[in-house]
Amino acid sequence: MAEHQLSEFYTPFYAYGSGHDSPNQSRVNMARRIRKEIEGTKEPQRILGIGAGRGEVEGTLTRDAHGSGNRVWQSLVRQSQFVTIDIADIPPRKLVSKRTRTHVRADSRQLPFATDSFGICTSNLSIDMLRRNENGDYERTLGEMRRVLCVGGVALLSFHASSLFDNLSEVYSGRGGVREQYFDGKSAHNPFYQHAEDIAEDLHAVGFKDVASTMVVEGQDEWWETRAE
Ligand SMILES: C[S@@+](CC[C@H](N)C(=O)[O-])C[C@H]1O[C@@H](n2cnc3c(N)ncnc32)[C@H](O)[C@@H]1O
Repeated sequence: MAEHQLSEFYTPFYAYGSGHDSPNQSRVNMARRIRKEIEGTKEPQRILGIGAGRGEVEGTLTRDAHGSGNRVWQSLVRQSQFVTIDIADIPPRKLVSKRTRTHVRADSRQLPFATDSFGICTSNLSIDMLRRNENGDYERTLGEMRRVLCVGGVALLSFHASSLFDNLSEVYSGRGGVREQYFDGKSAHNPFYQHAEDIAEDLHAVGFKDVASTMVVEGQDEWWETRAE
């Protein structure tokens, strides 16, 4: 699916709803994984969220710190810089935790940030919406992510599992709307990942050295959680 179609779909999705488009557990897990990285370094971090939607992951993390009663953790979150991007035009009033982060409307294929400028990059169920192989949109996003990460920086990613795609394409295929076109396009060119090795191969190709992925199953939802550095 072309990016303008994704933007066309997601702009009204966020403008007229208060929604998100990912399993709740995937965002909770992502927030936990970010916490683990920040606490591991014991230093405030600059963290980029790619395809972040309204910023629910960052909101979950901020609420977690707030309610934790853990002063060290709270101080690390307060001093960290959270930056999010999304291709959809999201009204500021719809953004979660907007006082504690910077949000920019941008395309993940061309990130408007300096090389080596983030310690952590995250993306929850977003970048594999782009076309793979056919015209390299997906690969460009992975390369951009590696570019803006500092040496030794960490990427925390989740990807739709191919089994999820099978379920959804049955629901959406052939109906004719934007989301339907997306799943039709996916089934022709671009199935989601079936094996952890395939994720590692794509991330090695853009310069990541260590890549580990785990499949998470939550009811009908299935996704990969990947850490790469
Ligand atoms: C399935 S939603 C996930 C949103 C969010 N990460 C979450 O967990 O709720 C995919 C998001 O990716 C965004 N997106 C798709 N293509 C993009 C691109 N090329 N650049 C930036 N964002 C993109 C969409 O607008 C949408 O907000």
